[in-house]
Amino acid sequence: MSDNIVQMDHIQKSYDGVANILEDVSFTVNRGEFIVIRGASGSGKSTLLNVLGLLDAFDSGYYKLNDFSIESDKFNRYSDLRSKLLGFVFQSYHLIDSLSITDNILLPFIYSDEYITSEIIERMNMILESFDLIESKDKKTALLSGGEKQRVAIARAIIKSPPLVIADEPTGNLDNENTDVVIGYLKNLTKKSTSVIMVTHDTGLLKYSDRNYLLYEGRLV
Ligand SMILES: Nc1ncnc2c1ncn2[C@@H]1O[C@H](COP(=O)(O)OP(=O)(O)OP(=O)(O)O)[C@@H](O)[C@H]1O
Ligand SMILES: [Mg+2]
Repeated sequence: MSDNIVQMDHIQKSYDGVANILEDVSFTVNRGEFIVIRGASGSGKSTLLNVLGLLDAFDSGYYKLNDFSIESDKFNRYSDLRSKLLGFVFQSYHLIDSLSITDNILLPFIYSDEYITSEIIERMNMILESFDLIESKDKKTALLSGGEKQRVAIARAIIKSPPLVIADEPTGNLDNENTDVVIGYLKNLTKKSTSVIMVTHDTGLLKYSDRNYLLYEGRLV
C-alpha cells in the first residue's frame, strides 16, 4: 500500500468537449492528510470532486485511487470502489429528513445491499457517542439544526471507514460555532489516517489544512 491515497497527473475534463473546466490538474494526497481546495465560483471545484469521487468521468490524464488505476470510460462501473473507498459530505447534507439519525447513518448499507451486523451497530454507536448525537439518535433529521445535520452526514460518510472523505463546502450553511465543531470532527478523522479533501470558500479554514490549493484556470496552484 503506497503512502498516497490519491495521485492525479494531468487530468483534463470538459463538459462540452470544447472548453476544459479542468485543464491540467496534478496532485497527490497522502494518507491522513487534510487538503483544502479553494477557488472562485465556477472554477471547477465540484467538477474536480466529482472526478475524484468517481461520480463523473474525465477526458484524459492519470488517476490512481488507493493503488487502483481509474479508467475514465469505466467510471460508471465503480460503484463498489466508491462504496468501499469514499465518503461524501455536501453543503446541503443530503439526508432523508423523514428518517431517524441512525437510519440515515445506515443508508450506505441499505443502498449496497450489505448486512448490518452487530459490529456495525457498535461502530455506529461509538460514532454517535463521539459526535454527541447519542441522546437524539432516534430523532428524525428534519428536527435537527444545521450543525447537527452535518454531523449526521459526516457520521454516514465514515460508517464504512473509508480511507478518503470528500467534502464539498461542508460548512457553507453553518454559523461560526458549528463550523468549528464540524471541522473539528473532520480534522479528527485524519488522526486515524483517513484523508480528507475539502472544498471551501472560507479562508479562515485554511489553518486546519495540512496543504491547500487554489483551483485557478483549470489548475491547482
Ligand atoms: N453537468 C454539467 N454540464 C455542463 N456544465 C457544467 C456541469 N456542471 C458544471 N458545469 C460548468 O462547469 C463549470 C464549473 O462548475 P463547478 O460546479 O465545478 O464549479 P465550482 O467551482 O464548484 O463553483 P461553486 O463555487 O459555485 O460551487 C461552471 O461553468 C459550470 O457551469
Ligand atoms: Mg461547487
